[in-house]
Amino acid sequence: MKKINIKPDCVFSPQPMYIIGTKNEDGTPNFCIITWIGFSFDKTPHLMMSIGGSKLTKTNILREGKFSAGMITEDILWLADYFGSTRGEEGSKTAVPYGYTLGEQLEVPIIDQCHWTYECNVTRVVKLEGAHLFLAKIENIQIDEAYENMDMKAIDLCRLRPAVYAPYHYFSIGDKIGEMGQWKEHFL
Ligand SMILES: Cc1cc2nc3c(=O)[nH]c(=O)nc-3n(C[C@H](O)[C@H](O)[C@H](O)COP(=O)(O)O)c2cc1C
Repeated sequence: MKKINIKPDCVFSPQPMYIIGTKNEDGTPNFCIITWIGFSFDKTPHLMMSIGGSKLTKTNILREGKFSAGMITEDILWLADYFGSTRGEEGSKTAVPYGYTLGEQLEVPIIDQCHWTYECNVTRVVKLEGAHLFLAKIENIQIDEAYENMDMKAIDLCRLRPAVYAPYHYFSIGDKIGEMGQWKEHFL
């Protein structure tokens, strides 16, 4: 295969997306979308998140030290798109209907329609030139009770249906294509 080089102006990195829930100073909730999220493990599971510029979400996290991260699935995509397209600093996000409750372990707002949500406590903040990196310990995971009997070592993404972000567009995932370690079946 012949390769070409392109400038890293706009990084193409297909990613899942999360609704980040935070508490405003007056106790009301605020939600936005963050896609720059990864996970790591240091004795317990952690979430790594990057927030750029000035955002109410960032201000709230720097003050409160906690947030919720709810996986964006296809059924809540347009609610999430609304949260990601409107700025909390310009007023509360009440133009579309939704409900929320506070987390089980942490006082963080969680959208009622979210099927899979992490309650996160910030343990490190790295201030970069134009963004902040947050490392947060996952204190609790709230899932839809419909998934109670799902095999947690073989989670069926086709059932969960997370939406995928590839710059400026949303996609759905396709089919399951195999299991970890099956490489021999494809080469030998
Ligand atoms: C699909 C999508 C993905 C986004 N991903 C990020 C991200 O990874 N990091 C970030 O800082 N902002 C991201 N944003 C932008 C924020 O969600 C947006 O600025 C939002 O208005 C912030 O809300 P707030 O001001 O209430 O905090 C994304 C927006 C959309 C629509």
